[in-house]
Amino acid sequence: MATTSPRMIRIFDTTLRDGEQSPGASMNLEEKLKIARMLAELQVDVIEAGFPIASPGDFEAVREVATQIKGPVICGLARCNDADIDRAWEALKSAERSRIHVFLATSAIHREFKLKMGQEEILQRAVAGVKRATGYCSDVEFSPEDAARTEIDFLCRVVEATIAAGATTVNIPDTVGYATPDHMGHVIHSLVERVPNIDRAVISVHCHNDLGLAVANSLAAVENGAGQIECTINGIGERAGNCSLEEVVMAMRTRADYYQTDTRVVSQRLVPASRLVSGITGLQVQRNKAVVGRNAFAHEAGIHQDGMLKEASTYEIMRPQDVGFSHTDLVLGKHSGRAALADRAATLGYELSEEQLKQVFAEFKDLADKKKEIYDSDIAALIEQQFRVNAQRWTLESYQMEINSEHAPRVTLTLRHGDEQLSTEMAAGDGPVDAIFLAIEKLTGYEVRCTEFSVHSVSVGHDAQGEVNVEVEYQGKRFHGRGISTDSVEASAIAFLEAIHRIDTLQEAIKATK
Ligand code: KIV
Ligand code: ZN
Repeated sequence: MATTSPRMIRIFDTTLRDGEQSPGASMNLEEKLKIARMLAELQVDVIEAGFPIASPGDFEAVREVATQIKGPVICGLARCNDADIDRAWEALKSAERSRIHVFLATSAIHREFKLKMGQEEILQRAVAGVKRATGYCSDVEFSPEDAARTEIDFLCRVVEATIAAGATTVNIPDTVGYATPDHMGHVIHSLVERVPNIDRAVISVHCHNDLGLAVANSLAAVENGAGQIECTINGIGERAGNCSLEEVVMAMRTRADYYQTDTRVVSQRLVPASRLVSGITGLQVQRNKAVVGRNAFAHEAGIHQDGMLKEASTYEIMRPQDVGFSHTDLVLGKHSGRAALADRAATLGYELSEEQLKQVFAEFKDLADKKKEIYDSDIAALIEQQFRVNAQRWTLESYQMEINSEHAPRVTLTLRHGDEQLSTEMAAGDGPVDAIFLAIEKLTGYEVRCTEFSVHSVSVGHDAQGEVNVEVEYQGKRFHGRGISTDSVEASAIAFLEAIHRIDTLQEAIKATK
């Protein structure tokens, strides 16, 4: 019997660009490169690495991703003007394969209130922008921003004109997350039916999640002829975020019978990618998040557990190992050796060098002294923290605390800053966490406002490691940090120091540009 092969849908990842626009999610160069390497392992088709003209940091990040990452097409965003497009090309030119992504708003609301331009001027500017980009590179994407709220006749004209000018991908953004699946499907269908040169470009969609419909809208677009989906890991992005990569990829793979489509994404890397992005951005993944949430494969009801034991497909539509959850949550302990740890780390998706394994193993032994059973989530947390702390300038050396209900806590804190050790002793704060934060501020010289603080347990048991996430505000900008330890005050100090490290790095980058 003849079987038709699925239509391959391109996955355009914009975690490093739209994802970074999530409030408080800014990333440094090293972090962006780590995510870009992970995206290349996932085998996404396109990585949108940033918006080069936005800042020197953005430019450098796009240039480094373009230089170092092989495999996917590397894309940079530009508004429809010469300076943006020239700058984007400057950052992209060393890539194996590059794409310039030019955008200009087309909806009536944006034309009237933001751009103060009429339809004809928009059309002219869009064409000129695309033409300039094609002077540099043959792979050019054009986005009519707020396309989902643009009059369909005008949208068809813009799409036709930009394809004629050389755009090879036309992206249809639902910039404000206003569309519904029927609406989005109808827009794409109209373009397919009405734009005479539509077969010369790939139709893409870029859906925001303000109504929680970004994945559904993207799938509706695919059903109507879109060949590329723009999405982010964990669905992070401006406001309520973007279409979630893991969800849309697994929807097409799990329901290939219906959609008759697939992607090149290596789904077994989805959970490690989700953990990496959450660790770097500080944006936690909700437990019940589809595909990658901690509870996504947890069966609570007795009837379900009984069914699972008899035959997993009774209650599971995907296999946990197919999205990168390890098959077993094998428990390690103090007698486990380096080889067992290395094996577990590899199963969880971490390739450790000899030196890294040595460091992580030392931390693992320390943890095993404090905690009887070590779960996969403990190991993942340990490895991620080890990598993050290694990159930091300020690290926690030790602390002692005297605490009682009568007086402010008395804390003695020692930090390491490069080769230096700095200590302070003070009585301050409303409690142990406040006291340690104040002592860190005193030693590092940064006074910040803590805007968010949360603690949750990484695994199970009263000896479980606590994960602390903090967000602080400094000079109007938000910075996050994460710390993990069996001691929640220590975890708080590590998290706070990570946020301070981000401030310090940014301050230095600003100084360097002056
Ligand atoms: O949401 C949007 O419209 C965008 C464009 C720049 C594609 O992010
Ligand atoms: Zn967007």
